[in-house]
Amino acid sequence: MAWSFALFPWLSALCALALFINFLSKLKNKSSKPLPPGPPGWPLVGNIFDLGEIPHQTFYKLQAQYGPVIMLKLGSINTMVVQSAEAASELFKKCDLPFADRKAPDSLTALGYNQGSVAIGVYSGYCRKVRRIGTTEFLVNKRVNASIPLRQKCIDDMIGWIKKDVAKSKENGGSGEIQLDWFLFVTSFNTVGNLMLSREVMDAKLDKASDIFDAFVVFLEWVGKPNVADFFPFLKWMDPQGIKRNTATYLERLLGFASEIVKERIEERELGKEKKTNDFLDALLDEGEVNEKGVDKLSLKNITIVLLEMFFGGTETTSTTIEWGMTQLVRHPNTMKKIQDEIDRVVGRTRKVEENDLSNLPYLQATVKEILRLHPAIQMLLPRNSIEDTEFMGYFVPKNTQIFVNAWAIHRDPVVWPDPLSFKPERFLDSDIDFKGQHFDMIPFGSGRRSCLGLTLGHRMVCLSIASLLQTFDWKLPDGAKPEDMDMREMLGLTLRKKVPLKVIPILRE
Ligand code: HEM
Repeated sequence: MAWSFALFPWLSALCALALFINFLSKLKNKSSKPLPPGPPGWPLVGNIFDLGEIPHQTFYKLQAQYGPVIMLKLGSINTMVVQSAEAASELFKKCDLPFADRKAPDSLTALGYNQGSVAIGVYSGYCRKVRRIGTTEFLVNKRVNASIPLRQKCIDDMIGWIKKDVAKSKENGGSGEIQLDWFLFVTSFNTVGNLMLSREVMDAKLDKASDIFDAFVVFLEWVGKPNVADFFPFLKWMDPQGIKRNTATYLERLLGFASEIVKERIEERELGKEKKTNDFLDALLDEGEVNEKGVDKLSLKNITIVLLEMFFGGTETTSTTIEWGMTQLVRHPNTMKKIQDEIDRVVGRTRKVEENDLSNLPYLQATVKEILRLHPAIQMLLPRNSIEDTEFMGYFVPKNTQIFVNAWAIHRDPVVWPDPLSFKPERFLDSDIDFKGQHFDMIPFGSGRRSCLGLTLGHRMVCLSIASLLQTFDWKLPDGAKPEDMDMREMLGLTLRKKVPLKVIPILRE
C-alpha cells in the first residue's frame, strides 16, 4: 500500500481528502444515535465494488450479516437500504414525509426534465398537484372503467399481431415460435397512450410513430445504464460516459413529439370545437388554465413532461411484469391450465374475456399477485432522498441520504413467506394480503406518498393481458426445451427485465 501511495501522490491526496471528509461527516453526526450498520467501504469509491451485477440480490445477502437496515456509501452518496416488512412499515408510517423526496439520476436532469417530473422530482406543491390529478385519472375506478373499450382494442390488436407473426413464421418453414416481449411492450405503450390522449399513438398510418417509438426505446436504454456521475457528483460536468448527452438527444425528440400533441389539443380547445375528449391531457390543461397565476401552475413544458412520464412509468413496468408472468406460466403448465379452466367456466369460449370479468376470476388474481411478488418490476422502488436529518428505527439518517426499499428482498423474506422462492399462487387464495400499499410485505407498487400512480391501470392491464393470452392460445416451448431448464436470470435496466427474452409457440385453442 505504502509504495502505491508513493507512486501515485494524487491518489494519496484524494484518499486523504476522502478520509478527512469521512471524519468530518462523523463529527457532523450530532445525534446520539448511530448510523445504520453496513459493510466498510473503500476511500472515495465506498462500497461501489461490493454491489455486484445485480445490487438488490447483493443487498439481500448482506442482510444475514447486517440486518434489515443497511448503510452504504456509493461513491460519495450516503445510501440506506431497507429490506424487511417491519422496517418498510416503519418507513412508510413514520418517515414517509422526511423521506419523500426523490434522488434524480443525472441523465434525467437533461433539458430540465427533472423539474417537471413527478417520478424523480422533489416532493413539492407541484408534485402533489400532479399526483392529485393522476390519482383522479388513473386510480379512481370510475375513470379507469370509462376507458375499458380502448384497452380492449389494444388487446385485440395484440392478439391479431401474434396470430400474424405465427402465420409468418410457419410460412417461412418455422415452428410458429414468437418472441413475446415486443408485442407486450407496444401494447402497453398504446394502452397508456389511449388512456391519456384518447387516441392510438402507435398507429401504423402515422409515419412518425415508429420513429418516436424507436426514440422511446433507445431513451429507456440510456436512462437504464449505471452512470458513474450519479456516484461522484463532481463528475457531472464531464458526463464521462456520455449518458446525459445521449439521453438529451432522444428526450428532445420525445418532448417535441409530445408538445405537438399538446399544441394540437390546445388549438382544438381554443377553436371551441365540441369537446370530444375528457382525458388526462384535458385534466392537465384544465389545471394549467385555472392556475395561470398560481405558484404551482402547470406550464406547457411541465404538461409535456408529465405526459411523457406516464409513458415511461407505465410501459416497461407493465410489459415486463406480463413477460415474467407468461414465463412462470409456461414453467408451471398446471397453473396455466387452472387459469384456462377458470376462464372457460366463468366466461366460456364463445366470447372474449373482458375487464369486467376479472373480479370473478380469483385464481387468475392470485396468480397475478404471485407474479408481482416474485418479479416486482421496480425491484427497489424508486430511490427516495431524505429531506432532513431523521431518526429511523433507532438510527441516525443524515439529510440527503438516498433510500432504497428492497421490495425484491421483502417479497422473499422466509419469515413472512413460507417457501418464498417457489411460484405458488395458492398462497394468496385464502389470504387478504394485497398489493395496494397497506401490507408492507407485498409492495410491488410501493407505498405512501410516492406510491405508483398507475396501480389500478397497471394491475388491470397485467390481468387482462394474461387472461386474453391464455383464453386465445395454448403456450408451448420450442421442441426439446424443458420448462425446468428455462432461463430465469434477471437483468437490470430501467426495470427488472428477463435477461433472455421469452420465446414461445402460441397454439390457437379450438
Ligand atoms: C405493473 C405495472 C406497474 C408497476 C409494477 C409499477 C410500479 C411502480 C413503483 C414500484 C413505483 C415507485 C413507488 C415508490 O417509490 O413507492 C412507481 C411509481 C410510479 N408509477 Fe408505476 N408501476 C406500474 C404501472 C404504472 C402505470 C400504468 C403508470 C401510469 C400510466 C405508472 C406511473 C407511475 C408514476 C407517475 C410513478 C411515480 C410516482 C411518484 O414518484 O410520486 N405506473 N410505479
